[in-house]
Amino acid sequence: MTAPLLDIVDLSLHYGDTRILDRVNLRVSAGETVGLVGESGSGKSSTVRAALRLLPPNARLEGTVRIGGREVLAADARELRGIRSTEVGFIQQDPRGALNPVRRIGDSLTERLVLVHGVGRAEAKRRGLELLEAVGISRPELRFRQYPHELSGGMLQRVVIAAALTTEPKLLLADEATSALDVTTQAEVLAILRDLQRERGLGVLFITHDLHLAAAYCDRVSVMLRGEIVEELDGADLFTGATEPYTKSLLEAVPTIREARA
Ligand SMILES: Nc1ncnc2c1ncn2[C@@H]1O[C@H](COP(=O)(O)OP(=O)(O)OP(=O)(O)O)[C@@H](O)[C@H]1O
Ligand SMILES: [Mg+2]
Repeated sequence: MTAPLLDIVDLSLHYGDTRILDRVNLRVSAGETVGLVGESGSGKSSTVRAALRLLPPNARLEGTVRIGGREVLAADARELRGIRSTEVGFIQQDPRGALNPVRRIGDSLTERLVLVHGVGRAEAKRRGLELLEAVGISRPELRFRQYPHELSGGMLQRVVIAAALTTEPKLLLADEATSALDVTTQAEVLAILRDLQRERGLGVLFITHDLHLAAAYCDRVSVMLRGEIVEELDGADLFTGATEPYTKSLLEAVPTIREARA
């Protein structure tokens, strides 16, 4: 059996005496989509940021994280750079925060390809434009030259999705990656990710507030409450198979289509 792309084992995170994550276990294998849901502040973003060690210096981490079989928490700076730049694409929750405001979209989009992977500028640009088009951005040549403030939130979200895919990672960590998109664009972007999963076994950790989306799109869904995974279900069973009271209350808070129309 091949090692999972992401293997989080008993991961705990503290800031001083405050416990943020408590022995979290999560696993994503090739070709798989694993959802992570839970109320605001439950620790979803902290989990992915901890897995990449993108945390403030006062963060204290325990446990094990392996990405592509490589130990993250024990890695030195050089290894860590290698893991981040070759194995993983990360879409962070706030797309504006992910992009340097004084750099052109095109430069942000292609810099990892050029600087880390040694791809020539012309080829990097070709791939960048292709990806912008693939995530549904019209007039990619124009967007390439623009700055983040010239783009809408939904468009920026598509840019960061494209940026995370430029280096063809095996694993994608997507933190609310499609939540600012309208339903149609969201469906288009998810279809692109599905194709990548089929074509090259991309594994996806999909953080979302949208439980219907998690049920429809994810193979498995982990439910987080106050820094702990309290339940793990197949996506298809999310609305019928929950046994934990918290999962049930989370599901009951979701309006059904009939209620939403009433
Ligand atoms: N740098 C930090 N120092 C101290 N506490 C923090 C820090 N960053 C996050 N927290 C706390 O960690 C907890 C989990 O936050 P996190 O952002 O991981 O939640 P989340 O599930 O992603 O929420 P949301 O759905 O709103 O994005 C929160 O209580 C938050 O206040
Ligand atoms: Mg979050």
